[in-house]
Amino acid sequence: MSNERDQPPCPDDVCPRPERPLVHATQPMAAAIYPTSVWQCNNTDQAEKILAGQLEGYVYQRDGHPNADALAEKIALLHQAEEVAVTSSGMAAMSLALLSQLQAHDHVIASSQIYGRNLQLLTQETARLGISSTTVDTCDLNEVARAMRPETRLIVVETIANPRLQVADISRLAEIAHTGKAKLLVDNTFATPVLCRPLRWGADFVLESGSKMINGHSDVMLGLLCGRSADWQRVPQTVSVWGLASAPFECWLATRGLASLHLRAERASRNALAVAQVLEASAEVTQVDYPGLAAHPQHELAVRQFGDLFGSVVTFELRGGRPAADNFLQRAHEIPFSPSLGEVATTLSHPESTSHRGLTAEERRDLGISGGTIRLSVGVESPEFIRQAIRRGLGS
Ligand SMILES: Cc1ncc(COP(=O)(O)O)c(C=O)c1O
Repeated sequence: MSNERDQPPCPDDVCPRPERPLVHATQPMAAAIYPTSVWQCNNTDQAEKILAGQLEGYVYQRDGHPNADALAEKIALLHQAEEVAVTSSGMAAMSLALLSQLQAHDHVIASSQIYGRNLQLLTQETARLGISSTTVDTCDLNEVARAMRPETRLIVVETIANPRLQVADISRLAEIAHTGKAKLLVDNTFATPVLCRPLRWGADFVLESGSKMINGHSDVMLGLLCGRSADWQRVPQTVSVWGLASAPFECWLATRGLASLHLRAERASRNALAVAQVLEASAEVTQVDYPGLAAHPQHELAVRQFGDLFGSVVTFELRGGRPAADNFLQRAHEIPFSPSLGEVATTLSHPESTSHRGLTAEERRDLGISGGTIRLSVGVESPEFIRQAIRRGLGS
């Protein structure tokens, strides 16, 4: 009988060895993915200098990798940013901003209308680190100015806020921040750089959740923080030591998604305006929030900041509360109840039962959210397909 099975497996042949540079006669059209967690260094001096940021190159994925750099380069062009950090999620990008820019005894002003998890991060988690916060309606600029303190270091708003789609006056907010020692951070996830480039309006930091329209295909979780070199000193170390780094495959997918961002954002915005007009005309709907509608309280500001595209999200209020929302969900069955946004497909979310379920009924009422509130994320399908699904949902 052979004793082969008794031999320990020999790992020598299967252990990966760094490949020599491949020489191709022709170049691949698609970018390479570098899933390697670590790189082989030539000598100690090289390793030390790369890790210190004095030499270009890579040593360890958490400190940087080519797929993150490729994505960062494109985002820097879109936002005209001096610096871009790629993180594992939009939440990680917000954590990066807070952890790299703030310290104990600092104060933050946050819009009361930002994404619920960011509100929790800014008001609860950072309080544990000795950072205080005040939430205000950032559409009321006097209220923002009144909330400023000598120790205020950051104002956080969304370009188009979640879920009632208020529009932030970025240049005025930047002025208020800069009258003190504060910086303005704008979460631009709903707008994308196609509608708005907040750095050009005076913001100091821009955040994008790469999990939404930047990628656009429901298969990536990433975040991006953009800013200026003068504010970037602590950023690389914060990404590395707090473990906020991105994964190569996610960056590769998002870079691919980015190639069609302009087409998707334009198509989805035009579809969203058409949907908002259908909803506005329905007797089943008591309120429609969309910055592209003349009736929107910040429509003029939206036109000034965004031009003629107003984003893919439309929020509306159904007559009949939660039972009416459930009926809509059942009847508009072509539209998945899928609580995210910015995808190629039209989806819908119900803030009361998902993104804002952690708030009290009173807090939700203050934000204008009830059982009948539905947030639509309009996709790139044909306008007729979406209009028909909405009409079916409304029972008309
Ligand atoms: C406006 C906004 N900002 C940030 C985030 C967080 O991004 P991520 O889910 O990639 O962590 C979300 C998530 O829904 C969001 O809607």
